[in-house]
Amino acid sequence: MEELDLEGRVAVVTGGAAGIGRGIVEALVDEGCRVVVADIEAPVLDRTVEELAGRGDVRGVVTDVSDNASVESLADLVFEEYGACHVLWSNAGVTSGGGGNPWDQEANDWRWCFGVNVFGTAQGVLAFVPRMIESGEPGAVVTTSSGDGGIAPVPYASVYASSKAAISCFTEALAHQFVAQGTNLRASVFYPSGGLLETGLWEAQRNRPASLARTRPRPPAPGTTFAEFKEALAAAGRATDTVDLAELGRFAVQGVKEGRFVIAHNLDRSARLLHARADAIGQGRLPPSALDALA
Ligand SMILES: NC(=O)c1ccc[n+]([C@@H]2O[C@H](COP(=O)([O-])OP(=O)(O)OC[C@H]3O[C@@H](n4cnc5c(N)ncnc54)[C@H](O)[C@@H]3O)[C@@H](O)[C@H]2O)c1
Repeated sequence: MEELDLEGRVAVVTGGAAGIGRGIVEALVDEGCRVVVADIEAPVLDRTVEELAGRGDVRGVVTDVSDNASVESLADLVFEEYGACHVLWSNAGVTSGGGGNPWDQEANDWRWCFGVNVFGTAQGVLAFVPRMIESGEPGAVVTTSSGDGGIAPVPYASVYASSKAAISCFTEALAHQFVAQGTNLRASVFYPSGGLLETGLWEAQRNRPASLARTRPRPPAPGTTFAEFKEALAAAGRATDTVDLAELGRFAVQGVKEGRFVIAHNLDRSARLLHARADAIGQGRLPPSALDALA
């Protein structure tokens, strides 16, 4: 497959103001892309765009991916002002904030998490892809999934894991249909990986709308901050190296250029877990979870 040339191309990255998305934005800017960063957190978005302005063509558009009208107006702005979209990167994501037992997850935990992670991704495809196909130009749709759900669930994060399983499955279907319909587009699924990811995901609740608050508010469970998680890993003698997010962004963008469907570090480890899962499922047994794989 021919490498995707990103020089001068238009890229849209949702959730690109901070964390993993910011690393992706930086890498795309450095490739010479004209980047539109779509994020709900206006002050962080403004700061990021300001910091990257001297590095290339980058612009922020405040967007709520869980709001269809907001995503539609983002797409209209991009096609009207840039005339094209070559890379749509659906990266915005939140945890459900309702970790713990699956039977303690509230309807609003599902609504918020699926609204952003799953419907946000679906809405991006609905708003952008028909015009991307119509242009006939080469391009890519990339989703940021998670090994949690995309490969195997972390059982105490059942809502988030389910949302990421949906994203991985949807991206796979999309990739097949791009080929089957003879489009000039490809799809890739990105699994952030390679070590601990110190990002705002641990405080995703900051962006939760009041209309989707839990009806039974509860304080964060012990062990749910990044520092506590890291401490627990260290106490268990496990590796606690954090990932350089700029480096991770470059790795992910390189994967997109090369047209890889799965973009992830340590794929051999995931493959071992997937084989064990397939064996169990093939025998009608409960497959090992992501936590079993760590044991
Ligand atoms: N951090 C991890 O350990 C990890 C692991 C695997 C996958 N991921 C995935 O990586 C992606 C990026 O997360 P991160 O870890 O960088 O977290 P983060 O909180 O640092 O970044 C997420 C970004 O999405 C934005 N966002 C949240 N809700 C939004 C909405 N409704 N509309 C538009 N933007 C919104 C936030 O403002 C933020 O800038 C997510 O999809 C996440 O699920 C993270």
